[in-house]
Amino acid sequence: MTFSANEIRYEHMRYNRCGRSGVKLPAISLGLWHNFGGVDLFENGRRMVLRAFDLGITHFDLANNYGPPPGSAEETFGQILKKDLGPYRDELIISSKAGYYMWPGPYGEWGSRKYLVASLDQSLKRMGLEYVDIFYSHRPDPDTPLEETMGALNYIVRSGRALYAGISNYPAEETQKASGILRELGTPCLIHQPRYSMFDRWVEPELLDTLNQEGIGCIVFSPLAQGLLTDKYLQGIPEGSRASKAHGFLKPDHITVEKLKQVGQLNDLARSRGQTLAQLALAWVLRPPTVTSALIGASRVEQIEDAVKTLAQLEFTDEELKQIEEIL
Ligand SMILES: NC(=O)c1ccc[n+]([C@@H]2O[C@H](COP(=O)([O-])OP(=O)(O)OC[C@H]3O[C@@H](n4cnc5c(N)ncnc54)[C@H](OP(=O)(O)O)[C@@H]3O)[C@@H](O)[C@H]2O)c1
Repeated sequence: MTFSANEIRYEHMRYNRCGRSGVKLPAISLGLWHNFGGVDLFENGRRMVLRAFDLGITHFDLANNYGPPPGSAEETFGQILKKDLGPYRDELIISSKAGYYMWPGPYGEWGSRKYLVASLDQSLKRMGLEYVDIFYSHRPDPDTPLEETMGALNYIVRSGRALYAGISNYPAEETQKASGILRELGTPCLIHQPRYSMFDRWVEPELLDTLNQEGIGCIVFSPLAQGLLTDKYLQGIPEGSRASKAHGFLKPDHITVEKLKQVGQLNDLARSRGQTLAQLALAWVLRPPTVTSALIGASRVEQIEDAVKTLAQLEFTDEELKQIEEIL
C-alpha cells in the first residue's frame, strides 16, 4: 500500500531551534540503533518510522554501525525511504555518523579524513540518498589531530554530502576546540549528541554551558537509559526486552537492586503527575533550554506514542525536582 502521511502531523509536536542555527528539531527524535537491523523484523521497523513521522517526528538518527549486522539499519531506513518516505525527503532531517569500527585495517574507524569520507559514501549508498542532513564525528579520536577530523566534516559539507556538521561524545574542552576550528572553516558546528538521562548526568557541569556559549544545539541520546527508566524492568527482565537480547547493549548486570529501587520511586512520582515513567524521564532531560531534542529508541509503535505524549506535561514544580534529586 502507498503511504500517505497524516495531514495533521505538524499540529502537536514541538519544534525547538537547534542552537543558533536556522534549523528546528522535534522535541522527540527517533534513533535506529536497536530494532532496525538485519536481525529484526522489517515490517515492525517500518511501522515505527511511519508512525513517528505521522506524529510529527521529522528527525531520524542513524550511524554507519547500527544493526546488527553493522550497516543494516541504514539499509532498512533506505528501504523505508524508497517504499514510503521518498516523497517526503524535504520534510526529514536524517543524520548519520562515523567513528566506531566498520571495516578492517587502519582506515575503518576513528577520525581520519580517509575514514570519515569513505564511511559516509557507504552510508549514502546504503540509504539511497544523495546527502544526509547532519553528519557526525561519532567519537573523539585521541590520535588524529582535531583539525583533520573537523577539516573532514567541513569538506563533507562543502562537497554536498551533508548539510550540517555535528559531533558526538566529545567532552567540553574538545567541543570548544572543535567548535572554534569549524567556525573558522566556515562550517559552524550545528549540534552535539551526548548521552544524558537521570542516571547519567555527565553533561551538566560543563558541556551544556559550552554548547550554550558556542550556540550549538544538543540532542541527548539514551534518555530512558536504554529502557531502565521505564516501568518495564520492575518485575524482572521481560522476554524480548533489550536486556534479554544477546546483542543488546543493556546488560542484565546493569539492572541492579539499587537502580530498581530508584526506578520504583521515580515511577510513583510519575504516576502522581499523571505520567508514565518514560514520560517523566523525557520531560526531565528536556528541562535545560540548551537541550533541543530527546533522542529515543523504540521496539514497538506504542513506545513512540507514549514518548510523544510527554509534551502534554513538561513542567516540574520545585518540589518535584527536589524529590527527584533526593531519589537520585
Ligand atoms: N551517539 C552515540 O554514541 C549514541 C549511542 C547510543 C545511542 N545513540 C542514539 O540514541 C538513540 C536512542 O538510544 P536508546 O535506544 O538507548 O534510547 P532510550 O530511549 O534510552 O532506550 C530505548 C529503549 O527503551 C525501551 N523503551 C522505549 N520507550 C519505552 C516505553 N515507553 N516503555 C517501556 N520501554 C520503552 C525500549 O526497549 P525494549 O527494546 O526493551 O523495548 C527501547 O528500545 C539510538 O537509536 C541512537 O540513534 C547514540
